[in-house]
Amino acid sequence: MERLTIAIDGPAGAGKSTVARRVAQRLGYLYIDTGAMYRALTLAAQRRGVSPHDEDALAKLARVLTIAFAADGNGQRVLLDGEDVTDAIRAPDVTAEVSHVARHPLVREVMVEKQRELARDGGIVMDGRDIGTHVLPNADIKIYLTASIDERARRRQREMEARGYHVALETVKEEIARRDRLDSERAVAPLQKAADARLLDTTGLSVDDVVEEILAMCRTRGREGE
Ligand code: DC
Repeated sequence: MERLTIAIDGPAGAGKSTVARRVAQRLGYLYIDTGAMYRALTLAAQRRGVSPHDEDALAKLARVLTIAFAADGNGQRVLLDGEDVTDAIRAPDVTAEVSHVARHPLVREVMVEKQRELARDGGIVMDGRDIGTHVLPNADIKIYLTASIDERARRRQREMEARGYHVALETVKEEIARRDRLDSERAVAPLQKAADARLLDTTGLSVDDVVEEILAMCRTRGREGE
């Protein structure tokens, strides 16, 4: 069967990575978490003392870093120059700065090039903020996942708890609202639903429901392609 390219976008906490990972598993595709790529760059910058506002230095750093994904049972490890940074890139101080790093056009140019290269052969599920609109405008399937801010904050809080970070719900909600604002209002490739993306509001839906919905879209598309 044709190996499709699937783009999943949406705001923080909409369930993108959980859903994207499952869809990729079910189809035997590669899952590419572009948020993890911006996070890895943010971590590398912090370690080197590069300011999140220094666009040239960040773009230069992005060009020399190697960011790779390695399958690991049900999940996936993120490797930064060979070092496993899967947990380190979820630390609150990385989360707090990543939207500033991702705002710069030169940084995005480098990252988008890496992302297109990873997607070149199809058979991938890629999630982020600008995949359907900008990185892969010709993706076979485009989804825009969202959920109410309360639900997104609850999910993010649970995810952080599981990683050992205890943060009040109100604080998580404020953090998400702040990132939504930064990601949606930036000049280059802001968070936006692509005109041809299917909107899926996951409030009150289970992960399985959403995964099945996307797999059904893939089956229909597969038949259209015959
Ligand atoms: O999905 P996430 O929370 O791991 O993403 C971290 C940040 O990276 C997010 O706040 C905005 C940025 N990002 C982006 O600008 N473009 C993408 N394609 C993916 C993430």
